[in-house]
Amino acid sequence: MTHARQHRIQVVAHRGASEDAPEHTLAAYRKAIEDGADALECDVRLTADGHLVCVHDRRINRTSNGRGAVSALELADLAALDFGSWKYRGSLHHRDEEPDWVHRPEDPAETSVLTLERLLTLVADSGRRVELAIETKHPTRWAGQVEERLLTLLKRFGLDAPATSEESAVRVMSFSARSLQRIRAASPTLPTVYLMQFLSPRLRDGRLPNGVRIAGPSIRIVRNHPTYIERLKRAGHQVHVWTVNEPADVDLCVDLGIDAIITNRPRAVLDQLGR
Ligand code: G3P
Ligand code: CA
Repeated sequence: MTHARQHRIQVVAHRGASEDAPEHTLAAYRKAIEDGADALECDVRLTADGHLVCVHDRRINRTSNGRGAVSALELADLAALDFGSWKYRGSLHHRDEEPDWVHRPEDPAETSVLTLERLLTLVADSGRRVELAIETKHPTRWAGQVEERLLTLLKRFGLDAPATSEESAVRVMSFSARSLQRIRAASPTLPTVYLMQFLSPRLRDGRLPNGVRIAGPSIRIVRNHPTYIERLKRAGHQVHVWTVNEPADVDLCVDLGIDAIITNRPRAVLDQLGR
C-alpha cells in the first residue's frame, strides 16, 4: 500500500527534541518547538507531595545527579537537582565536532526538573498550535491519582476537552487500558491512545480497549506486522507510532499511512518529509 506524500503525518517530539537536548527538560521542549514539531510527547509521574513531573523512569538516577524514586521524593527535592549534565557530557563523548546545542543553557531552569504545569505554560506561550501527547506512567501505583491530577491541571489550562477545532490539543496515552478508562470516564471527549510494545494475540483482531480511537504501536510492531497496521486503519483507528528515528522507518510509516510519528529527532524527520 503506497500513500501519497501529501498525507500529512504529525511529527511528535519524543520527550522533547531528546536527541539534541536532555529529555523532558525545558531546553528539549523549547528546541522541539523551534524545530517545528507539531506535538510534544511527555511522560508524567507523581511526586510524593502530589506534583506531576515529566520524568520517564521510575527512578531519577539515569537523568539527574540525584538518586531515588520520583514517588518517594518531593518537588523541592527534585528542584534542587540537575537534569541536564548527563546528556551534555554523554553527547561530547560521541561527537568529533561540538555542535552548538552541546553548550548547555546558562539558565539552570532550562535543565531542572520540569513540572507538567511548566510545560503547559511553555506551550501556551509558544504563540502557535502545539499539541501534547501526555503518557501516564505506572498509574496503578497511585490508584487513579495520576489521572485525577492530570485532568485537574488540563482543566485549569482549558485543555480537558476539544475546544475550537475538532481535536483537542491534548491526548492522553498509556500502556494501561485501566488508566485510559479512568480518563475516559472523567473526560469522555479527550482523545486517548493505547500504547503497545508487542503484538499480543488478543490485539490481533484490530480492536482497541473500549472507546479508544488511537493505536500507539511500537515501530517494531509496524516493521513486523504491517498487515496489522492496515487492519487498524481499516477499522477506522488513527495510528501513532513510537519511537521512529531511522529514515527507513519514516518511509515505512509514510507508506502505511501512519497518522503520527513520535521521534527523538523532529527536525530530521521534518526535513525528510520535506517540511
Ligand atoms: O510515545 C510512546 C513511547 O514514549 C512509549 O515508550 O518507554 O518511551 O515511554 P517510552
Ligand atoms: Ca513515553
